[in-house]
Amino acid sequence: MEKITSELLNWYQKNKRDLPWRTTKNPYYIWISEIMLQQTRVEAVKVYYERFITKLPTLYDLANISEDELLKLWEGLGYYSRVRNMQACAKKLIASGYENLPNTKEGLLDLPGIGKYTAGAILAIAFDIPSVAIDGNVYRVLGRYYKIKESITKGSTYQIYERKMQQILPDTNAGDFIQSFMDLGSLICIPKSPKCSSCPLQNNCKARKTNQMELYPVKEKKKEQRVEERAVYLYRWKDKIAIQKRSAKGLLASMYEFPNELKTVSVIDIENDLLEEGISFLSIYEVGKSKHVFSHIIWYMTGYMIELKEPLLDYVWVTLEELNQKYSIPSAFSYYYKILLK
Ligand code: ADE
Ligand code: SF4
Repeated sequence: MEKITSELLNWYQKNKRDLPWRTTKNPYYIWISEIMLQQTRVEAVKVYYERFITKLPTLYDLANISEDELLKLWEGLGYYSRVRNMQACAKKLIASGYENLPNTKEGLLDLPGIGKYTAGAILAIAFDIPSVAIDGNVYRVLGRYYKIKESITKGSTYQIYERKMQQILPDTNAGDFIQSFMDLGSLICIPKSPKCSSCPLQNNCKARKTNQMELYPVKEKKKEQRVEERAVYLYRWKDKIAIQKRSAKGLLASMYEFPNELKTVSVIDIENDLLEEGISFLSIYEVGKSKHVFSHIIWYMTGYMIELKEPLLDYVWVTLEELNQKYSIPSAFSYYYKILLK
């Protein structure tokens, strides 16, 4: 068994909170408590939980109570869809011949209002089936203990924590194990100023070692997207089109592109510039606007077709066939690339 696992289990044995849903393993009761705890504080849930299970001691009772009476039992907890979903689950299960909740992940996930977290918690707590249930407490404890660098605001990070938790999952006492995170995260490894000197994990916790508790779990703010307005120039000369190579560093490094600049211009502006530089042309016209979203920049582009009488030396001149076969034009320009192909 991993060190963190035995440390958490031993600590939980001695320090677990005395909560009313911890005296049972009845899946129906565990389910009720987990749904109530989803958006409500532990202290507030206690009273509601006791009243709910007294009035509706079985899944069958929940399926059959009138909606008015049910909502009255939930009054004050908020998010009423939670309890409506619960009754829908109860009706569905009773109709299929069940007397309690199913003991498989698939069976649970199939029910309205039960997601990965709730399914994992029910399997572990009620059925002692080793399963993960990742909430804010798990993110905080594991994020700090292992100094996990990936931001929890990123969707793909869930799997990193899920894998970590699977690695340290004990074969038995799965319910105690996941609830140890809830209690450690609520009592000791709290968001601000965690009480590391009382923590069972203090000797091996990486964040504690470097005194960086407040930096974990990493929560990267979504970067502001910078908006850029660009003019894109489709210079044509005979059967050729002008392209240029982008710099070897930064956005779209080393790829070829149509000449463009960070500017809003009009056909008149382009005409004036060309006249001023003594460049003769046959025609200039706008070919449309397009938008491309990069991870941190958005380009709003306006394209101009410019037919020249002679080639400009700054560019690489290629036929459409060469462009197609030898050069890769980033998809940011595909709107204009398609116009050329027409
Ligand atoms: N929060 C969610 N589930 C919980 C549980 N079983 N015990 C304590 N807090 C919780
Ligand atoms: Fe959290 Fe501190 Fe314990 Fe690390 S040592 S798990 S930061 S309370």
